Amino acid sequence: MNIVVASDHAGFALKEKIKDFLKEKGYSVLDCGTDSEASCDYPVFAKALCKEIKEGNAEYGILVCGTGIGMSMAANKVQGIRAALCSDYFSAKFTRAHNDANVMCLGARVTGEGLAMELVDIFLNTPFEGGKHLRRIEMFEE
Ligand code: RB5
Repeated sequence: MNIVVASDHAGFALKEKIKDFLKEKGYSVLDCGTDSEASCDYPVFAKALCKEIKEGNAEYGILVCGTGIGMSMAANKVQGIRAALCSDYFSAKFTRAHNDANVMCLGARVTGEGLAMELVDIFLNTPFEGGKHLRRIEMFEE
């Protein structure tokens, strides 16, 4: 499975750790940047990541900024993207099961590295339940 990751400067260090974690788990990882802790604008990287998903180059995306909030706001502007800011296990699981989220956003200044890896793991390993939940997410595009 292909996973695309991106961050701004605040999320750079955690994004690098997530890349290592994903590769260890056998995922192919596409990195849309940023590539340092130099100050940059998170919407640029959110847009680049969403483009990869929409073009079918990755199944899921993981965005990291300081809070995860800016990245989630930016990503959810893109049609077809369902981005979920996650800082707890239950949300990371049920945004896949009920919302079919295709992007997870993390706040590097909010969520510690150990929990972040657990959140990534449960997000990527929880299937969408479909059924009534499909009807509801289809309403997003109307
Ligand atoms: C950068 O300082 C910070 O504003 C950004 O990483 C993010 O938290 C925005 O939502």
